[in-house]
Amino acid sequence: MSQSNGTDNGALFVVGAGRGVGAAVARRFGRDARPVGLIARNRERLDGMTRQLGEDGITAAAAVADVRDVDAVRFAVDALERRLGTAEVLCVSPLPDVATIKPVVDTTAEDLREALELGVLGTAAAVGRVLPAMRATGRGTMLFTTGSAALTPRPDLDPMKPEETLRNGRVQGLRPGRMRRDEREDTGRRDAARSAREAAVS
Ligand SMILES: NC(=O)c1ccc[n+]([C@@H]2O[C@H](COP(=O)([O-])OP(=O)(O)OC[C@H]3O[C@@H](n4cnc5c(N)ncnc54)[C@H](OP(=O)(O)O)[C@@H]3O)[C@@H](O)[C@H]2O)c1
Repeated sequence: MSQSNGTDNGALFVVGAGRGVGAAVARRFGRDARPVGLIARNRERLDGMTRQLGEDGITAAAAVADVRDVDAVRFAVDALERRLGTAEVLCVSPLPDVATIKPVVDTTAEDLREALELGVLGTAAAVGRVLPAMRATGRGTMLFTTGSAALTPRPDLDPMKPEETLRNGRVQGLRPGRMRRDEREDTGRRDAARSAREAAVS
């Protein structure tokens, strides 16, 4: 797919692009002559961010989507790919609604659903869209933001925890090498050998 910046660098897509982490990551990767695609809900803010990036000499485009809507995420990623080329870097950084982050005892099923939709389902939709090209080229970087509750469980930040545990498990599975077929086959062979040894001594 053609690159509008005249380089071979694949694009950066930021899902949940805001003025904090998203804008900083966009500037940093944009400096490497990567086109930048931004996804969030607020069209006005996105237009301001793409304008600013353009003034800094970075090719940028935006697509509106609510990360909780998996079809909208897929549609937005596809739209950005058509404009900017394939994503070589993905950053997922939507800020959760702080109203849903409550102590464990006050957390409702709806709060958990909201956290899962934002932090797991939307993320999975974005990853699913960019991963095939990354695997085909053997090149790709994914960045996921998280809150401190992912590392240190806190009873006052409950909805973050299950969402982050689930997402972190998926992220670990995406680490380089983990996806390689030959590695999975090696693991399968090791498991079979261990089972055979255990059967022999029992
Ligand atoms: N900044 C920090 O110091 C810090 C520290 C620890 C962790 N983090 C983590 O880093 C991430 C980003 O933080 P930030 O400071 O960069 O926040 P930010 O500047 O507010 O940017 C986050 C963006 O997420 C977008 N967003 C929220 N809900 C969305 C949804 N449903 N669909 C699409 N976009 C959505 C918002 O844009 P729209 O409203 O336009 O959708 C918002 O601009 C968060 O995960 C946060 O927990 C940040």
